[in-house]
Amino acid sequence: MIYLSPPHMSGKEIEYVKKAFESNYIAPLGEFVDKFEDLIKNYTGAKAALAVCNATSGLHLALRVLGIKDSKVAVSTFTFIGSVNPILYERNKPVFIDVDEYWHMDAELLEKAVKENDIKAVILPHIYGQVADIEPILEICKKNDIYLIEDAAESLGAYYKLKMDNGEWKIKYSGTFGIFGVYSFNGNKLLTTSSGGVLVGNDENLIKKARFLSTQAKEADFMEYVHKEVGYNYRMSNILAAVGVGQMEVVEERIAKKREIFNWYREFLDEEFMPELSNTRGTRWLTTVVFKDKDPWEVMKKLRVNEIESRPLWNPMHLQPLFNGAKAYLNGRSEELFKKGLCLPSGTTLTQKQVKDICEIVKSS
Ligand SMILES: Cc1ncc(COP(=O)(O)O)c(C=O)c1O
Repeated sequence: MIYLSPPHMSGKEIEYVKKAFESNYIAPLGEFVDKFEDLIKNYTGAKAALAVCNATSGLHLALRVLGIKDSKVAVSTFTFIGSVNPILYERNKPVFIDVDEYWHMDAELLEKAVKENDIKAVILPHIYGQVADIEPILEICKKNDIYLIEDAAESLGAYYKLKMDNGEWKIKYSGTFGIFGVYSFNGNKLLTTSSGGVLVGNDENLIKKARFLSTQAKEADFMEYVHKEVGYNYRMSNILAAVGVGQMEVVEERIAKKREIFNWYREFLDEEFMPELSNTRGTRWLTTVVFKDKDPWEVMKKLRVNEIESRPLWNPMHLQPLFNGAKAYLNGRSEELFKKGLCLPSGTTLTQKQVKDICEIVKSS
């Protein structure tokens, strides 16, 4: 079976897991948790990082730390439910925003939503390894005193090339623009710890507060387990962090391979692909295609018969039964993408020949 995006170990992970066992830190703390957080900080340039059990819990912590409850939170409708569930955990109401030509939150629709609703925070998903056009969104948030939380679950390693006042270019990674950003290390992501997430931010005190909440909100000054507010058990295990440390050694190698796979698909298939914003480097975590006149469900079935996994693009959140009656600012794009698009196998052990064979099956569908 060829899977959509299976784990791809570097080979070092098992050595680090063994070390974690030898140290007997079989716990949600230890040397590898600290190391993993440091590696993420160094790689992304974020000032502070907190390793958690998954990205969903990271987003929940972000909302909790900022005190966003019983409020309205804007989020792109074209995303995975993991972007939205944390909004509900704090009894907030999502306001769904449709996407622009780059498949990310449409800034004009966001502006309209902000004018018509008392929105306290924006959760901005960067999807399929690519990035949103962030400047206008940052601007709207700044102008209206709204917190920006980046859901970079799918876009670890994607970056913007920013032109500085002195004319030089600077790289800034997705997840590091907002007050918080979150990366996922779920089994299908660019890098995996089987399940895991990292919450990042540039305010160390806010990450400190998230760390406190993620460890059952245990008051530090007492031996006798004193608690003054609701906390969670959201930390990452030292064993899983050891896997993460091994994975981080190959992050750029994996991105290069993902991009190479995308280029192969583009060469072999005469279809439309997800666009990439200028002055950004996406990772092409998943190669996503929009068919000119094929039915993606037929293609998916044909691939399945040939033991090849593919998946539809995100089924928009405003269409989910869970969100019946929720406010949504729409332009038809997310529904159109869902109707016509498909995610193609993008695992980093794929060969050019395999991609070519997959494309032949797609073409014959
Ligand atoms: C856009 C997006 N947000 C959030 C999540 C949640 O991540 P996790 O599974 O690590 O909780 C995922 C994926 O799983 C995702 O794709």
